[in-house]
Amino acid sequence: MLAAYERATAALAKAQNVLVLTGAGISAASDVPTFRDAQTGLWAKYRAEDLATPEAFARDPNLVWQWYQWRRQLVREAQPNAGHYALASLAQAKAVSLVTQNVDDLHQRGGSPDVIAVHGALFDNHCLNGHAYQAETDGLESPPECAQCGALVRPGVVWFGESLPEHALQRADSAVRMAELALVVGTSSLVWPAAGFAESAAARGIPVIEVNPQATPFSPQATYHVRGLAEQVLPALIGTALESPTT
Ligand code: OAD
Repeated sequence: MLAAYERATAALAKAQNVLVLTGAGISAASDVPTFRDAQTGLWAKYRAEDLATPEAFARDPNLVWQWYQWRRQLVREAQPNAGHYALASLAQAKAVSLVTQNVDDLHQRGGSPDVIAVHGALFDNHCLNGHAYQAETDGLESPPECAQCGALVRPGVVWFGESLPEHALQRADSAVRMAELALVVGTSSLVWPAAGFAESAAARGIPVIEVNPQATPFSPQATYHVRGLAEQVLPALIGTALESPTT
Protein backbone atom coordinates (compact mmCIF):
# COMPACT_ATOMS: atom_id res chain seq x y z
CA MET A 1 0.00 0.00 0.00
CA LEU A 2 1.69 3.19 -1.18
CA ALA A 3 1.91 5.85 1.52
CA ALA A 4 -0.04 9.02 0.88
CA TYR A 5 3.15 10.92 -0.04
CA GLU A 6 4.10 8.37 -2.69
CA ARG A 7 0.55 8.37 -4.06
CA ALA A 8 0.63 12.18 -4.20
CA THR A 9 3.95 12.09 -6.05
CA ALA A 10 2.63 9.50 -8.52
CA ALA A 11 -0.49 11.61 -9.14
CA LEU A 12 1.68 14.69 -9.80
CA ALA A 13 3.93 12.69 -12.15
CA LYS A 14 0.90 11.58 -14.17
CA ALA A 15 -0.86 14.98 -14.46
CA GLN A 16 0.04 17.15 -17.43
CA ASN A 17 -2.17 20.15 -16.62
CA VAL A 18 -1.48 21.31 -13.06
CA LEU A 19 -3.19 24.08 -11.08
CA VAL A 20 -0.97 25.54 -8.37
CA LEU A 21 -2.56 27.75 -5.70
CA THR A 22 -0.19 29.53 -3.33
CA GLY A 23 -0.50 31.76 -0.28
CA ALA A 24 1.81 33.61 2.06
CA GLY A 25 3.27 30.35 3.43
CA ILE A 26 5.40 29.86 0.32
CA SER A 27 7.17 33.17 0.98
CA ALA A 28 7.65 32.56 4.72
CA ALA A 29 11.08 30.97 4.18
CA SER A 30 12.08 34.12 2.26
CA ASP A 31 11.45 36.09 5.46
CA VAL A 32 8.29 37.70 4.09
CA PRO A 33 5.87 37.44 7.03
CA THR A 34 2.65 35.57 6.34
CA PHE A 35 -0.51 37.60 6.50
CA ARG A 36 -1.54 36.26 9.88
CA ASP A 37 1.95 36.38 11.42
CA ALA A 38 2.28 39.08 14.01
CA GLN A 39 3.72 42.23 12.48
CA THR A 40 7.20 43.23 13.60
CA GLY A 41 9.04 46.35 14.71
CA LEU A 42 7.34 49.68 14.10
CA TRP A 43 4.30 47.91 12.70
CA ALA A 44 3.89 45.53 15.65
CA LYS A 45 1.06 47.64 17.07
CA TYR A 46 -0.98 47.36 13.88
CA ARG A 47 -2.88 44.40 12.42
CA ALA A 48 -2.46 43.91 8.66
CA GLU A 49 -6.22 43.59 8.38
CA ASP A 50 -6.57 47.13 9.80
CA LEU A 51 -4.14 48.70 7.33
CA ALA A 52 -5.03 46.91 4.07
CA THR A 53 -8.41 48.64 3.62
CA PRO A 54 -9.75 51.60 1.61
CA GLU A 55 -11.06 53.11 4.87
CA ALA A 56 -7.59 53.00 6.48
CA PHE A 57 -6.10 54.72 3.42
CA ALA A 58 -8.83 57.37 3.42
CA ARG A 59 -8.32 57.96 7.14
CA ASP A 60 -4.51 58.13 7.07
CA PRO A 61 -3.01 57.83 3.57
CA ASN A 62 0.53 58.46 4.82
CA LEU A 63 0.39 55.65 7.41
CA VAL A 64 -0.95 53.09 4.93
CA TRP A 65 1.45 54.25 2.23
CA GLN A 66 4.44 53.94 4.62
CA TRP A 67 3.34 50.42 5.59
CA TYR A 68 3.43 49.40 1.92
CA GLN A 69 6.78 51.13 1.43
CA TRP A 70 8.07 49.04 4.37
CA ARG A 71 6.66 45.84 2.83
CA ARG A 72 8.10 46.72 -0.57
CA GLN A 73 11.56 47.17 0.96
CA LEU A 74 11.17 43.85 2.82
CA VAL A 75 10.34 42.08 -0.47
CA ARG A 76 13.15 43.82 -2.38
CA GLU A 77 15.58 42.45 0.20
CA ALA A 78 13.98 38.98 0.09
CA GLN A 79 15.06 36.18 -2.21
CA PRO A 80 12.94 33.44 -3.76
CA ASN A 81 13.30 30.17 -1.84
CA ALA A 82 13.52 26.51 -2.89
CA GLY A 83 9.73 26.31 -3.00
CA HIS A 84 9.51 29.09 -5.61
CA TYR A 85 12.27 27.50 -7.68
CA ALA A 86 10.66 24.03 -7.50
CA LEU A 87 7.40 25.43 -8.87
CA ALA A 88 9.33 27.13 -11.68
CA SER A 89 10.91 23.77 -12.59
CA LEU A 90 7.46 22.15 -12.61
CA ALA A 91 6.33 24.79 -15.12
CA GLN A 92 9.18 23.79 -17.42
CA ALA A 93 7.91 20.21 -17.60
CA LYS A 94 4.12 20.56 -17.40
CA ALA A 95 1.31 23.00 -18.23
CA VAL A 96 1.20 24.85 -14.91
CA SER A 97 -1.34 27.58 -14.05
CA LEU A 98 0.09 29.35 -11.01
CA VAL A 99 -2.58 31.29 -9.10
CA THR A 100 -1.23 33.21 -6.12
CA GLN A 101 -2.84 35.30 -3.37
CA ASN A 102 0.58 36.79 -2.67
CA VAL A 103 1.41 40.30 -3.81
CA ASP A 104 5.19 39.83 -3.62
CA ASP A 105 7.14 39.17 -6.84
CA LEU A 106 9.03 36.10 -5.59
CA HIS A 107 7.29 33.63 -7.93
CA GLN A 108 8.32 35.79 -10.90
CA ARG A 109 11.86 36.24 -9.59
CA GLY A 110 11.98 32.48 -8.91
CA GLY A 111 11.39 31.82 -12.61
CA SER A 112 7.68 31.02 -12.82
CA PRO A 113 6.77 32.21 -16.31
CA ASP A 114 3.11 33.10 -15.86
CA VAL A 115 1.75 34.19 -12.48
CA ILE A 116 -1.98 34.85 -12.01
CA ALA A 117 -1.94 37.33 -9.09
CA VAL A 118 -5.53 37.43 -7.83
CA HIS A 119 -4.74 39.96 -5.07
CA GLY A 120 -2.74 42.35 -7.24
CA ALA A 121 0.94 43.25 -7.09
CA LEU A 122 2.83 45.04 -4.34
CA PHE A 123 5.01 47.06 -6.72
CA ASP A 124 2.14 48.28 -8.90
CA ASN A 125 0.52 51.64 -8.24
CA HIS A 126 -2.65 53.30 -9.47
CA CYS A 127 -4.61 56.36 -8.34
CA LEU A 128 -7.93 56.26 -6.50
CA ASN A 129 -9.65 56.73 -9.88
CA GLY A 130 -7.84 53.70 -11.35
CA HIS A 131 -5.28 55.49 -13.52
CA ALA A 132 -2.01 53.49 -13.66
CA TYR A 133 0.93 55.31 -12.08
CA GLN A 134 4.28 54.34 -13.58
CA ALA A 135 6.68 56.84 -11.99
CA GLU A 136 9.17 55.57 -9.40
CA THR A 137 7.82 55.77 -5.84
CA ASP A 138 10.75 54.24 -3.96
CA GLY A 139 11.67 56.45 -1.01
CA LEU A 140 8.43 58.47 -1.05
CA GLU A 141 7.08 58.94 2.48
CA SER A 142 3.68 60.09 1.23
CA PRO A 143 1.50 58.91 -1.65
CA PRO A 144 2.05 60.98 -4.80
CA GLU A 145 -0.82 62.48 -6.80
CA CYS A 146 -2.02 61.18 -10.13
CA ALA A 147 -0.59 63.13 -13.08
CA GLN A 148 -3.91 62.75 -14.95
CA CYS A 149 -6.49 63.63 -12.29
CA GLY A 150 -4.67 64.66 -9.13
CA ALA A 151 -6.17 61.84 -7.02
CA LEU A 152 -3.92 60.13 -4.49
CA VAL A 153 -1.89 57.16 -5.72
CA ARG A 154 -2.26 53.83 -3.84
CA PRO A 155 -0.59 50.39 -4.10
CA GLY A 156 -2.01 48.10 -6.79
CA VAL A 157 -3.10 45.42 -4.33
CA VAL A 158 -6.61 44.19 -3.45
CA TRP A 159 -7.73 45.59 -0.10
CA PHE A 160 -10.26 43.99 2.23
CA GLY A 161 -13.73 44.58 0.90
CA GLU A 162 -12.51 45.21 -2.66
CA SER A 163 -13.25 42.95 -5.62
CA LEU A 164 -10.50 40.89 -7.22
CA PRO A 165 -9.18 41.88 -10.68
CA GLU A 166 -11.71 40.47 -13.20
CA HIS A 167 -9.12 39.25 -15.70
CA ALA A 168 -7.15 37.36 -13.04
CA LEU A 169 -10.39 35.84 -11.70
CA GLN A 170 -11.41 34.64 -15.17
CA ARG A 171 -7.96 33.12 -15.79
CA ALA A 172 -8.03 31.39 -12.39
CA ASP A 173 -11.52 30.01 -13.03
CA SER A 174 -10.51 28.58 -16.38
CA ALA A 175 -7.35 27.09 -14.84
CA VAL A 176 -9.52 25.34 -12.24
CA ARG A 177 -11.70 23.89 -15.02
CA MET A 178 -8.74 22.62 -17.07
CA ALA A 179 -6.63 21.16 -14.25
CA GLU A 180 -5.94 17.44 -13.91
CA LEU A 181 -4.41 17.99 -10.45
CA ALA A 182 -4.20 20.88 -7.96
CA LEU A 183 -1.32 21.72 -5.62
CA VAL A 184 -2.48 24.00 -2.74
CA VAL A 185 0.54 25.47 -0.96
CA GLY A 186 0.95 27.71 2.06
CA THR A 187 -2.52 29.15 2.39
CA SER A 188 -4.84 29.19 5.39
CA SER A 189 -7.77 28.95 2.94
CA LEU A 190 -9.62 31.51 5.04
CA VAL A 191 -10.07 34.32 2.54
CA TRP A 192 -12.68 34.14 -0.20
CA PRO A 193 -13.07 34.07 -3.16
CA ALA A 194 -9.42 32.90 -3.47
CA ALA A 195 -10.08 30.01 -1.08
CA GLY A 196 -12.83 28.88 -3.43
CA PHE A 197 -10.44 27.87 -6.19
CA ALA A 198 -9.14 24.87 -4.20
CA GLU A 199 -12.69 23.92 -3.26
CA SER A 200 -13.84 24.07 -6.90
CA ALA A 201 -10.88 21.94 -7.95
CA ALA A 202 -11.67 19.34 -5.28
CA ALA A 203 -15.34 19.36 -6.32
CA ARG A 204 -14.24 18.31 -9.83
CA GLY A 205 -12.83 15.11 -8.33
CA ILE A 206 -9.24 15.73 -9.44
CA PRO A 207 -6.41 14.90 -7.02
CA VAL A 208 -5.67 17.85 -4.71
CA ILE A 209 -2.43 17.95 -2.75
CA GLU A 210 -2.29 20.40 0.16
CA VAL A 211 1.19 21.37 1.39
CA ASN A 212 1.02 23.09 4.77
CA PRO A 213 2.56 22.41 8.19
CA GLN A 214 -0.86 23.06 9.69
CA ALA A 215 -4.32 21.71 9.01
CA THR A 216 -6.64 24.24 7.34
CA PRO A 217 -10.42 24.45 6.79
CA PHE A 218 -9.70 23.05 3.34
CA SER A 219 -7.72 20.02 4.57
CA PRO A 220 -10.73 17.64 4.76
CA GLN A 221 -11.35 18.24 1.04
CA ALA A 222 -7.75 17.60 0.01
CA THR A 223 -6.93 14.20 -1.46
CA TYR A 224 -3.49 14.31 0.15
CA HIS A 225 -2.27 16.61 2.96
CA VAL A 226 1.53 16.73 2.99
CA ARG A 227 2.17 18.26 6.41
CA GLY A 228 5.41 20.16 5.91
CA LEU A 229 7.16 23.34 4.83
CA ALA A 230 6.87 24.36 1.16
CA GLU A 231 10.58 25.03 0.88
CA GLN A 232 11.31 21.43 1.95
CA VAL A 233 8.32 19.52 0.54
CA LEU A 234 8.10 21.07 -2.94
CA PRO A 235 11.67 20.35 -4.13
CA ALA A 236 11.30 16.71 -3.01
CA LEU A 237 7.75 16.19 -4.26
CA ILE A 238 8.32 17.91 -7.63
CA GLY A 239 11.82 16.49 -8.06
CA THR A 240 10.60 12.92 -7.56
CA ALA A 241 7.51 13.46 -9.73
CA LEU A 242 9.59 14.84 -12.61
CA GLU A 243 11.98 11.88 -12.39
CA SER A 244 9.14 9.35 -12.45
CA PRO A 245 8.04 7.88 -15.79
CA THR A 246 4.65 9.43 -16.56
CA THR A 247 2.31 6.56 -17.32
P1 OAD B 1 -2.11 33.29 5.90
O1 OAD B 1 -1.13 34.06 6.70
O2 OAD B 1 -3.58 33.39 6.20
O3 OAD B 1 -1.77 31.74 5.97
C1 OAD B 1 -0.46 31.31 5.74
C2 OAD B 1 -0.52 29.80 5.67
O4 OAD B 1 0.77 29.32 5.35
C3 OAD B 1 -0.92 29.14 6.99
O5 OAD B 1 -1.88 28.11 6.74
C4 OAD B 1 0.40 28.54 7.51
O6 OAD B 1 0.17 27.31 8.21
C5 OAD B 1 1.11 28.26 6.21
N1 OAD B 1 2.57 28.27 6.28
C6 OAD B 1 3.37 29.01 7.07
N2 OAD B 1 4.67 28.75 6.80
C7 OAD B 1 4.67 27.83 5.77
C8 OAD B 1 5.69 27.17 5.02
N3 OAD B 1 6.99 27.40 5.25
N4 OAD B 1 5.30 26.29 4.05
C9 OAD B 1 4.00 26.05 3.80
N5 OAD B 1 2.99 26.65 4.47
C10 OAD B 1 3.33 27.53 5.44
O7 OAD B 1 -1.84 33.69 4.38
P2 OAD B 1 -2.78 33.45 3.15
O8 OAD B 1 -3.53 32.16 3.25
O9 OAD B 1 -1.98 33.65 1.93
O10 OAD B 1 -5.58 38.88 1.26
O11 OAD B 1 -3.81 34.66 3.28
C11 OAD B 1 -4.73 34.83 2.23
C12 OAD B 1 -5.08 36.27 2.15
O12 OAD B 1 -5.47 36.76 3.43
C13 OAD B 1 -3.94 37.18 1.77
O13 OAD B 1 -3.71 37.16 0.39
C14 OAD B 1 -4.54 38.51 2.18
C15 OAD B 1 -5.17 38.15 3.47
O14 OAD B 1 -6.39 38.78 3.64
C16 OAD B 1 -5.54 40.18 0.79
O15 OAD B 1 -4.61 40.91 1.05
C17 OAD B 1 -6.71 40.56 -0.02
